[in-house]
Amino acid sequence: MDSIKVGLLGLGVVGGGTWKVLRRNAQEIARRAGQTIEVTRIAVRDVEKARALVGSAIQVDADPFGLVRDPSIDIVVELMGGDTLARELVLEAIAQGKHVVTANKALLAKHGTEIFAAASAKGVVVAFEAAVAGGIPIIKAIREGLTANRIEWVAGIINGTTNFILSEMRSRGLPFATVLAEAQKLGYAEADPTFDIEGVDAAHKLTLLASLAFGIPVQFDRAYIEGISKLSADDIKLAERLGYRIKLLGITKRRAEGVELRVHPALVPAKSMLANVEGAMNAVLVRGDAVGQTLYYGKGAGEEPTASAVVADLVDVTRLLTADPEHRVPHLAFQPDAMSDIPILSI
Ligand code: NAP
Ligand code: HSE
Repeated sequence: MDSIKVGLLGLGVVGGGTWKVLRRNAQEIARRAGQTIEVTRIAVRDVEKARALVGSAIQVDADPFGLVRDPSIDIVVELMGGDTLARELVLEAIAQGKHVVTANKALLAKHGTEIFAAASAKGVVVAFEAAVAGGIPIIKAIREGLTANRIEWVAGIINGTTNFILSEMRSRGLPFATVLAEAQKLGYAEADPTFDIEGVDAAHKLTLLASLAFGIPVQFDRAYIEGISKLSADDIKLAERLGYRIKLLGITKRRAEGVELRVHPALVPAKSMLANVEGAMNAVLVRGDAVGQTLYYGKGAGEEPTASAVVADLVDVTRLLTADPEHRVPHLAFQPDAMSDIPILSI
């Protein structure tokens, strides 16, 4: 193989960041992957805007199905967002025998069971490190680093936009709408920012974490979800006066009777570690029976932090593609137990 050929579906905040990181760190990435990783085709809606970033040497068009069916493409990277066209494209890429990397938590939270089953049947990987907690390698940590453990719970701040809003409202006294507009400008927010502020995005991510941690199917519909849109500046001030900060937390816990899956604002003691996770930073705590409590912290949204996770997946999949078949380690395959009958608890 000369190089691994990548097709990018989308060249927005995350797609643009992925392009830049792949270019800037090309040599190190090739050395670590054991092969050059080359973006050879990009599909977007606004072709001229994309060409302004990548130039004319690369095929850029508005034909995403052409990209996923292109026999020269080895890995399809889905960075478009949405769960309708993205679902069709990811399933088509899998049907074409291509590995997929995606940052799309909405897609996986809604259609993960179907997508992971299709990938498993076809013997390809759907890698999604960038879908949860931006640049923090939390998927790898749970899937690989903590694999010896019975995970007891996972909890933390897993939406950068809402953490940014709550931090800026508290520290700078800015109005909700002003900070949300800033988060959108900085590329933190979802295309539909109600996903962020109503807790839906955090619940998408929590659903994926619970599935990985407990080996249960992806069950977004069963999550309890409450966002931050009803919080006022007075709530934030009053919490502070009482020695607390308000944080939007995602919490999933294994209990004897089933799994808790909930996203809601919580009062966190101002001196605690979580209270001091500010701006678009994320922090995830994972408790395993052998290791005890572990903490993962870093930028949870934005162009290059998210691209860092996308490229990490690209390197992993490249290693898989270039390894001698007898020595391939199938650790990237993710197949939640579709038959698991551990219930999600009603909250
Ligand atoms: P974005 O800036 O809106 O970029 C979306 C890209 O997809 C654009 O290049 C857009 O093309 C293209 N696209 C959208 N619909 C298309 C269609 N029908 N056909 C062809 N191209 C289409 O979004 P983003 O922030 O990069 O997010 C992308 C994905 O990453 C989402 O799933 C999001 O949830 C996830 N994510 C984002 C972040 C973050 O911090 N932003 C972090 C983690 C995960 P045009 O520009 O030409 O319209
Ligand atoms: N909108 C998401 C957030 C992007 O603010 O956390 C990262 O997943």
